[in-house]
This record gives sequence, C-alpha cells and structure tokens, in this order.
Amino acid sequence: MKTIFSKVKLKSRQIILLFALVLLSAIGQMLLPSFLAQMISHGVAEGENRVIWMYAIIMAGVTVFSCIISFLSVKIASYISTDFAAQLRNQVFSKVQEFSAAEMDKFGTASLVTRSTSDITNVQNFLTLMLRIGLLAPMMAAAGLIFSAATGGEVSSVLLIAIPVLLIALTVIVVLASRYSISLRKKLDQINRLFLESLEGVRVIRAFNRQKAESERFENANRDYAVTAMAAGRITSLLMPAISVIFGVTTAAVLGMGAYYVNTGAMEVGSLVANSQYISMVLTSVMMLSLVIMMFPTSYACAKRISEVLETESSIRDGKFSMKEKTMHATVEFRHVTFAYPGADEPILKDISFISRPGEVTAIIGGTGRGKSSILKLIPRLYDPMFGEVLVDGINAKEYRTEDLRSMIGYVPQKKCTVFRKYRRKS
Ligand SMILES: Nc1ncnc2c1ncn2[C@@H]1O[C@H](COP(=O)(O)OP(=O)(O)OP(=O)(O)O)[C@@H](O)[C@H]1O
Ligand SMILES: [Mg+2]
Repeated sequence: MKTIFSKVKLKSRQIILLFALVLLSAIGQMLLPSFLAQMISHGVAEGENRVIWMYAIIMAGVTVFSCIISFLSVKIASYISTDFAAQLRNQVFSKVQEFSAAEMDKFGTASLVTRSTSDITNVQNFLTLMLRIGLLAPMMAAAGLIFSAATGGEVSSVLLIAIPVLLIALTVIVVLASRYSISLRKKLDQINRLFLESLEGVRVIRAFNRQKAESERFENANRDYAVTAMAAGRITSLLMPAISVIFGVTTAAVLGMGAYYVNTGAMEVGSLVANSQYISMVLTSVMMLSLVIMMFPTSYACAKRISEVLETESSIRDGKFSMKEKTMHATVEFRHVTFAYPGADEPILKDISFISRPGEVTAIIGGTGRGKSSILKLIPRLYDPMFGEVLVDGINAKEYRTEDLRSMIGYVPQKKCTVFRKYRRKS
C-alpha cells in the first residue's frame, strides 16, 4: 500500500474540494428533518398554511442544493480515482517493461495481466466509494447521533442497542466474506493463465487433439472459482436481510417509544418524526460504511498484489560499459557457465564452455529440452548465469549497458517474440 501511494499521488486540491462539498451535503441532509419537525410543530399542529408553505419551499431548496452538491462530489470523486488508476496502470506498465525474464516467470503473464487490469480497477472502485461514502457516512453518522440525542431524548437510547447489534452483524459477515477474497483473486489468475495458455498453444493443442483435455482443465478451474464465489456470495447475501431486520426493529421501537412519550406529552409529534429520520440516517450511514468496509479485504488484496509488482526490482542490473567506446568483433565466449531457471531444482546448463568467433558458424546440437535455447537466452541477458561468465568481445555481458548489449544482438526466439533487435555488426 505504502509503495502505491509513494509512486502515485492523489490530487490533494480536489480532495480538499471534495471534503468541503461532502461537508455541505451532510449539513444539507441534516437540516431537512429539523425543518420537517418545525413544519409539523408550528405549521401542521397549529393549522398555519403559510408556515407549512414556507418550510416546504425551504426544504425543496435544500434538497435541490444537496442534489447539485452530490452530483459535483460524485464527479470529483470519479475524477480523482480514475486519474489515480491511470497513473497506477502506467507505473505497473513501466515496471513490467523493466522486468527480466526471471521476474516475468516469477509472476506469470496471466497474473501480470490480472494485476494491471482487474486488480487496479478494483482498487479504483474502492477509492471512488471511499471518497464518496467513506467521507460522507462518518459525518452523517456523527451528526445524526448528535441531532438525535438533542431532539429525541429517551427515544435516541434505542441507538445504544441498535448500533452495536448492527456493527456485530456486519463485522461477522465482513470477516467471513473476506476469507474468500484473496483465494478468489488467485483463482481468477489461474483462469486467466489457462485461458492464455490455450490461446497461445491453440495449434499444438489441435495438432495433438487435446481440445477435450484442455477444456476439462479449464472447466475445473472455472468451477473451482464459481464454487468459491458462490460461497462468498452466500455470506454477503445475509447482509441485506440482517440490515432490514435491524432497521425494522429499530424503527418500530422508536415509533413505539415515541408514541408513548407523545401521549404523555413529553415529546412533540414533530420531534418524533425528526428523530426517527435522524435515527434512520445514523443506521443508513453505518450500513453504507460497512459496505465500503466489506469491499476493503478484496481491494486490499488487490493493492498488495499491485505493490508486489511495483516493489520488485529487476534481477538484471545495467553495467556501466557503453558500446560506443569500442568496435564490435562479435566474439561470444561461455566460460564454465552453469544456469538454472528460477525455482528449478536442477541446473539446466552445467559447466558450459565454448567460443564463437566472427566469420564462423557455431551450431549447438542436442535433444529437445536439453537447454539449447537456454544458452542463447544468456547472451542478451534475458537471464544471468548462476556461475561462470558469458563474454561478448572479451567483456563480461554483465558489464555492458543492457540496452547497448541487446542492440548488438539479432535474436530470433523459438517461440514468442521476447527480444527483437537489429543485428548491427561494426566489423
Ligand atoms: N522460463 C522457463 N522456466 C523454467 N523452465 C524452463 C523455462 N524455459 C525452459 N525451461 C526448461 O528448461 C529446459 C531447457 O529448455 P530449452 O528451451 O533451453 O531447451 P531446447 O534445447 O531449446 O529444446 P528444444 O529443442 O525443444 O528447443 C526444458 O526442460 C524447459 O522445460
Ligand atoms: Mg529451443
């Protein structure tokens, strides 16, 4: 998370503006119930049509004002989060460009695609919600509590039970649902990987008549994802009924108690109406905030995955030697080179030594999977050897600037296009 915010800055001016707008919107919404209370107490109860009209016009004005403010705040929040996501995508893209083949292998193409698309979108959506609801809801909840305590007296005590019950219910649901979020992301990676593999290897799959086996592999991964997503969905589906029950019971309790106090003359009808609105405002805010919190585990998992990419440094470091300082003779020498792919148990190349001189053709012959292509990958430093040296014109390949080294090499990969440079022979 820290890495993300150190690389991508949120627009602070827009955030301050948004905060001011959200504050205005909260004040507007808080004023409405008290106007309603005044309207009922001074207008309806006393039969004063003029007062009723006056409050109706004020309330309509406040509502229109709140609508405009809320439209503006949604626009600004979307702008901030879209800009943030665009910057983040750029950062991830540039970082991946720096990666050597070892880092590409570590993450896998499919995972990098998910991280730079769906994961970033997830973080963006969370940020939008956070900026809209995460700012407004706590203000509304706090203001609602204060107003409710000021106008409702005893009736507001219902909140002392309702809020903890709501919080407990929400926490249990959020904690249970969050267990699935990380495993869902991993399963999505898996689906993307299988999809990518089947697209890349479509000719081989058809040539060997493996369509059925490949379909089964994909179906299994897909089912696995669907089952986990359904389990997570079953838990989150409890959220709305739980909230409805708590809302219903609280409203009934408020109106029941309120009716008693109105009967005894301890409370005015206007205050009761206003108070029930404040109480539902507090509960709505807590609920909305919990929806944001509910998205947090998934977004956090996504943000962590993006940070992992941003924090990874390429294992291939640039040397200092510039090609411009010397003329090329195009001699390549391997001296006791041993190389293993990252994570492999055994080295694929063991103690390889040979010299390839200019004007000669060097052929490397061997059975399939014996490491011929791996030898070639060491020359443009797609990977570095574990032991031994690869020398280009008598200088260790690691000492060249990677860009210079690669610009000297014409490399036609066997499978995908990984490196494609023009062969520039200077001698
Ligand atoms: N990126 C990679 N990560 C891990 N293992 C790899 C990777 N690329 C290749 N290997 C493994 O290294 C071994 C050597 O692969 P390499 O491609 O060098 O063989 P090759 O001699 O070129 O084979 P072929 O004749 O089929 O082209 C193989 O077992 C292969 O599975
Ligand atoms: Mg090969």
